[in-house]
Amino acid sequence: MTIVLAKMTKLFASLFALLVASATVYAQAPAASTQAPGATQSGPSGGGAQSIEAKVAQCIGCHGIQGYQASFPEVYKVPMISGQSAKYIVAALNAYKTGDRKHPTMRSIGNILSEQEMGEIAAYYERQGAKPVDAAVPQPNAQVAALLQKAACASCHGANYSKPIDPTYPKIAGQHADYLFVALKSYKTENNPVLGRNNGVMGAISKQFSNAELKALANYIGSLDGELRTQPEDKFR
Ligand code: HEC
Ligand code: HEC
Repeated sequence: MTIVLAKMTKLFASLFALLVASATVYAQAPAASTQAPGATQSGPSGGGAQSIEAKVAQCIGCHGIQGYQASFPEVYKVPMISGQSAKYIVAALNAYKTGDRKHPTMRSIGNILSEQEMGEIAAYYERQGAKPVDAAVPQPNAQVAALLQKAACASCHGANYSKPIDPTYPKIAGQHADYLFVALKSYKTENNPVLGRNNGVMGAISKQFSNAELKALANYIGSLDGELRTQPEDKFR
């Protein structure tokens, strides 16, 4: 009898350990896959300093998956942020936080990040980039050349649209063309609570172009070789 009991106790102990182990794996999964804002906040580190891996766990479910698509306000690939300049990433996150950028999901992400967390996450994504770039830039066709000329895009976004003149300006070469198009259109949208971006500079520029022209610009810039990429994360490390 005692032997049986001891055996059962042992069995329960190992069963319990197994349950705890699987619960732990499960508890980590939603942070990466459902992106519940703040889900990693109550992690085992207990509110103290979180590792950078825990912080970016809130991002990789969308930005770390090749070809991952957003469906609002239309279907497009989520922007590549690995290799983007850190100062621009912080500026963009702050624009979601203040509401200058209206995208609802990214607003809720921006809202839960402190300035310090934004800085650490942005530095992490900048470090992941710097993919070597093909020096030969394919020439745009005459229509696109005229559009690029009209708003002097390279005067701010820099050589090959990859060397912005200010680190708070984005690298745009090689970014997903469908995202570039959505972004360009969004600068035209005003007075909509869930759509659009307020930005004096890009607002004035985008409004000079029809959507068909913005699409031609986005397709050309997206076709260039750039420093941006999607860096998939190892799920378990
Ligand atoms: C649920 C999916 C999702 C999650 C999770 C998510 N993002 Fe985003 N992110 C998006 C989408 C979609 C956009 C484009 C929004 C828009 O149109 O402005 C975006 C835009 C951005 C941009 C602007 C990029 C640019 O080129 O202007 C940055 C920076 C960014 N996200 C960083 C992050 C960081 C950092 C995290 C984690 C803390 C994160 N995102 C989590 C979907 C997501
Ligand atoms: C005077 C400087 C300037 C000029 C000229 C300019 N841009 Fe921009 N661009 C910016 C700045 C600054 C931002 C960031 C705005 C923000 O915070 O949303 C930006 C953002 C963008 C974005 C959004 C990128 C992203 O990752 O979300 C795209 C796309 C873009 N510009 C394309 C263009 C194109 C195409 C042209 C020419 C037709 C152009 N820009 C001309 C300064 C400029």
